[in-house]
Amino acid sequence: MKASAPGKLMLFGEHAVVYGHPSIVTAVSERLYVETSKSNCLPKDTRFVDAAIKLWGQEGMNVSTQCSFSGVYGFGSSSAVTVATLKLLKPDVDNKTLFDAAYKIVLDIQKTGSGFDVAAAVYGGTMYYVKNQTIEPLRTLPIPLIVGYTGVKSNTVDIVNSVAKKREQYKEKVDRIFQSIGKIVEDAKSKLVEGDWERVGKCMDFNQEYLRDLGVSSEKLEALIKAAKSAGAYGAKLSGAGGGDCMIALGPPEKRAAVEAAIDGAGGEVVCVTATAPGVRIEP
Ligand code: PMV
Repeated sequence: MKASAPGKLMLFGEHAVVYGHPSIVTAVSERLYVETSKSNCLPKDTRFVDAAIKLWGQEGMNVSTQCSFSGVYGFGSSSAVTVATLKLLKPDVDNKTLFDAAYKIVLDIQKTGSGFDVAAAVYGGTMYYVKNQTIEPLRTLPIPLIVGYTGVKSNTVDIVNSVAKKREQYKEKVDRIFQSIGKIVEDAKSKLVEGDWERVGKCMDFNQEYLRDLGVSSEKLEALIKAAKSAGAYGAKLSGAGGGDCMIALGPPEKRAAVEAAIDGAGGEVVCVTATAPGVRIEP
């Protein structure tokens, strides 16, 4: 038997989501596959699969994993592998139970995380997500998303910790930034549902300004964002923890090729994925 779960991208609200503010996340078309097998063909980091087998499997069980995307993009392979393995072990499990079990494993191992990546892997689609509170699917038209990889692998836990340190030092200022990001998320939510891509793009630009203030952007991210916007994107921002990994942009269909060429020209790698992919499933 084989199960699969999608990767994810944060559209709005990273970092603030860790402190209880809302975010918007989408599942991407690249998937991670887990299969029961005689031989062990595991990812480099086996902690997530091991913990899943310990929870719902039997001792000595072997699974093999296969990923359609590179682990360097920051698409959330750890949460996807946890969710897909648990689904494989209990195919009839309901999504809420699956989410709770997978989030617990991820938190036990990583010690930090809002769980947005687990939610994307379980439920799929595009959703409004508030930690420990809300998972609300959003019905949108196809999102004209363009994704560029910086070529730099970022360390999410380190960056989340550096933001926590900054918040200890400048609590009021950082909390004000989080609140402003939360407001942008609310605005982006309604514009996304209306399909007002120009306004959604503007929200990306505003969100990026606050991420820059938090100190999580990088020269390479800024170069790709600038290139995308100069080539006609409605807006662009980093996606995820920052420091590297991917940037995202929204662009009208007629500008897509130009935006992609600009990202490429600025030293980025265009990653071809679509948003709003289906959540975890047993593969036929
Ligand atoms: O680096 P990623 O793609 O795993 O995203 C991290 C997003 C944060 O909001 C910074 C952390 C989190 O767990 O929500």
